[in-house]
Amino acid sequence: MKEQTQLKYLTTESTDRQTLFVITHPLFSAKISEFGGQLLSYQPVNKQEMIWQSSTAVLDGSKPIRGGAPICWPWFGQAPESFSGEPQHGYARSVKWQITSVKETEELVEISLVPMFSEQLKQRLQLSLEVIYTFGLEAKIELVTTNLGTQDFDFSMAIHTYLNLADSREVAIPELFDCQYFDKLANKQDTQDKPFAVDQAMDRIYLYDKAELTVTSSDKKLNILQQGHDSVVVWNPWQQGAESMADFDDLGYLSMLCVEAALTQGYKLKPGDCHRISQTLID
Ligand code: BG6
Repeated sequence: MKEQTQLKYLTTESTDRQTLFVITHPLFSAKISEFGGQLLSYQPVNKQEMIWQSSTAVLDGSKPIRGGAPICWPWFGQAPESFSGEPQHGYARSVKWQITSVKETEELVEISLVPMFSEQLKQRLQLSLEVIYTFGLEAKIELVTTNLGTQDFDFSMAIHTYLNLADSREVAIPELFDCQYFDKLANKQDTQDKPFAVDQAMDRIYLYDKAELTVTSSDKKLNILQQGHDSVVVWNPWQQGAESMADFDDLGYLSMLCVEAALTQGYKLKPGDCHRISQTLID
């Protein structure tokens, strides 16, 4: 690990079930899981937790962690035909990651991690992936994918952020009004012709590639800035869906909504090229 000799804010906490990278800074606190390399918690000082995690999430590395901001890579959703039979949402959320660099200042902490894929998988993918977290008064998650091979790679991905909300039944995302989306549950295209609201199971890919989103719930307003995406995925399993998943709190659907910066419309990464996608959460 390349890092400053004396780290002031970052510590590692291990139990028999999981290893966490914990940052306790005067401006915020945050947790990243070694397994999945994903953000599990981010709380600016004197503000509420911004990230939702299921209290029944499996933390022993036997399955992806339910909550936080899982990294779906190098595909989003079902595996493409060339990877038929491989896991939903790809490999990144099911392996351990290692820290490659840390920078700490009085204003922010920046941590980079890379996934510890097997040699066999690295050979097959010919892609590199890095996540760079920058925490301060806001939290930025950035993924950098580079094609190390000699062929184009068709890939998709998502920063699958589970937002912690006061009440998902009162959520509004005004920027999605008038936006076209693919409804994965109804298997059809549609347009958001009414104000965005959640009152049943929702699994939608919005064709929204602009930078700004505002998520409000009760009296809370969260700003999200995104780059390098071509869509925004919004997911809430609602009551029945939550009850059907052993690792999802039965009532958790009332206090979460996944708002995911995603690349889902077909992206060809050329040999030697690099793609960056980011999501920044601002309370
Ligand atoms: C969402 C997908 O991003 O993730 C949904 O759009 C999926 O279709 C959900 O159900 C959760 O996926 P998983 O694999 O974590 O249960």
